[in-house]
Amino acid sequence: MYVKHCIGTLIVLIAFFCQVWSQETTNEPPKQRPTKDIYLGIGSWADLPCTDGISEGLQWRRNGSLVGSGPVLNIRNASLGDKGIYTCHGPNGDTIEMLHLHLGYAPSPPEVQCWIPSYPLKALCSWTQTPDPLLPTHYITTYWSDSEEQLPAVHSCQKQREQDRQCVVEGVDLNPDTQYLVNITAVNALGSATRILSISLEDIVKPDPPVDVKATALPGKKVQVQWAPPPTWTDPVTFPLKYKVHFYWGNPNLDSTLGPYETDSMVRSGLPAGRTYQIRVSAMDFLGYGLSSEWSDPVSITLPKS
Ligand SMILES: *[C@@H]1O[C@H](CO)[C@@H](O)[C@H](O)[C@H]1NC(C)=O
Ligand SMILES: *[C@@H]1O[C@H](CO)[C@@H](O)[C@H](O)[C@H]1NC(C)=O
Ligand SMILES: *[C@@H]1O[C@H](CO)[C@@H](O)[C@H](O)[C@H]1NC(C)=O
Repeated sequence: MYVKHCIGTLIVLIAFFCQVWSQETTNEPPKQRPTKDIYLGIGSWADLPCTDGISEGLQWRRNGSLVGSGPVLNIRNASLGDKGIYTCHGPNGDTIEMLHLHLGYAPSPPEVQCWIPSYPLKALCSWTQTPDPLLPTHYITTYWSDSEEQLPAVHSCQKQREQDRQCVVEGVDLNPDTQYLVNITAVNALGSATRILSISLEDIVKPDPPVDVKATALPGKKVQVQWAPPPTWTDPVTFPLKYKVHFYWGNPNLDSTLGPYETDSMVRSGLPAGRTYQIRVSAMDFLGYGLSSEWSDPVSITLPKS
């Protein structure tokens, strides 16, 4: 009698737990299938599979609109118009598969350019990619000195963010014989591509333009032009700059470039009264290494009629 009661209680208990358990499972929201990311090259082919053992009555939708039927959706000569969220539906409308199709290109070797705006402290390298990969692409950027023998130490060319297209070579060696090799490798879901650029520091010096350019009319049809070295050129005393000054009125291509000057000012005389001149200044490494800076923004001055 006692044993019977016990077993009875046990059965009731088991039944109760079973009920609670089954309620809990049925109360759970239907499991959302994770969206799969699929990366596809423009112009390529792909077969999107719908996996669930079902082969009849399957439908494919892109962004909700019907685009095909059957267990496999064939994409031929993919174009940007094929981008979107693809869902495969069973005969009862259930979503069996959810694919996010991204289109783009594998990276091409980056077009890299390096210059030194702040000799001797750092070199900047920036790059472009044609065609634009259109997909998230990150860059692995390193450099090493070519003159080091045997195994050179590889340093990281510093970036703010992984997807930035510019990096900084810090603490570059002033020795004009030092060659650096810069490795810019682009990586995305479709592939990777590397460009190795050999840079010789003396070839890539390019100061920023001079700043604080001022023009003042002086008696006797003269103009004094003053400027300051670019603030990025941190040590103009040890590594002096020389300057060119461009005067023009009307067409800036009419050349009247004066200099080089090794000072921070110059005076031009014999200018006709009443005419308005535009004046701009450019800087270059004193020893003539590398490239001239871009021109500063022009300042204008009108010579008073006396
Ligand atoms: C692929 O598509 C592009 C652009 O839509 C078209 O120019 C090209 O001829 C197509 N190629 C093939 C093989 O269909
Ligand atoms: C589908 O939607 C995505 C994102 O909402 C959009 O980028 C894509 O162009 C759409 N595709 C089509 C074919 O409408
Ligand atoms: C350039 O960098 C990539 C990525 O780190 C690396 O795989 C490749 O070997 C490097 N190339 C050379 C020549 O060092």
